[in-house]
Amino acid sequence: MKVFSGSANRPLAEKVAKALRVDLSPLEIHIFPDGEKRVRLLESVVGQDCIIVQPTNPPVDSAYMELFFIVDAVKRSGAASAVVVMPYLGYQRQDHVFREGEAVSLEVVLKTLEAAGASKIIVFDLHSIKTMQVTKMPLVHLSAIPLFADEIKRRGWDTKESTLISPDMGGIRRVRLLSEMLSGMVFGAIEKERDLATGKVAALAIKELTGSLSKRALIVDDMISSGQTIVKAAQLLTQKHVEEIFVFATHPVFSDDAPRLLQELAIANVFVTDTIDVPKKKQFPKLEIISVAGTIANELQRA
Ligand code: R5P
Repeated sequence: MKVFSGSANRPLAEKVAKALRVDLSPLEIHIFPDGEKRVRLLESVVGQDCIIVQPTNPPVDSAYMELFFIVDAVKRSGAASAVVVMPYLGYQRQDHVFREGEAVSLEVVLKTLEAAGASKIIVFDLHSIKTMQVTKMPLVHLSAIPLFADEIKRRGWDTKESTLISPDMGGIRRVRLLSEMLSGMVFGAIEKERDLATGKVAALAIKELTGSLSKRALIVDDMISSGQTIVKAAQLLTQKHVEEIFVFATHPVFSDDAPRLLQELAIANVFVTDTIDVPKKKQFPKLEIISVAGTIANELQRA
């Protein structure tokens, strides 16, 4: 088995390789003055099963192009397989035509990946489970939810004194699953509206609560991008007299001003994972990062 890292999240690739007790295989990624990239494997992969670690977070187009080239290089050089570990899958939110005339971006990137020669993809906490229907490639869907359950248990947050909240109705299956791992912790979801043209978010009401709202709320989401969803959810919970709010989100996309918004918000901590590398300049005091490397290594060893 050989493990390669694209440039999107080398720290995670190094952790995965360490857990698998192998070194990362050398790969040259050259960027030409016009921005085009050339990738080149620096050792033989003939007959080998190759793992390529490359989340496709911003700059998303650049991450995808690099991934396509690495998969092509690996397959063209005689590898037996090219397994893509893409802990964050970019373009996932455009999984269907929302408004007449739009492209289905998710389908386009997955078709291209398949055409480049990917044998299988391993992803985390998909935004949309439609993703599995959009591609014929074998897809392994891992989750950070068990890691969040471990963190909640480690902090000793009592099941009866905490409520799990999804900041939108689409995420209710995540809080239901987490509740099952936490002896039936009360859960509910916020009815959210997003203006598709401006991206503005409104949190309208808490729905489908399985009990009463506690003084401590744990907001659980798949990703934080602009931070607007978390801001609106936290404001609504504060209006409902919740006193302590913690946020758990698998993918720290952190676009725009999200780190500042989250640091200034009336919340205690933001737990994310390293599916996306958070550069030092985007880290903030309330941020806690949990690694998914062990989960990935276990999956690769199991398969
Ligand atoms: C939306 O359906 C997702 O689950 C996230 O809530 C959303 O993508 C977060 O985006 P933002 O941080 O920009 O509100």
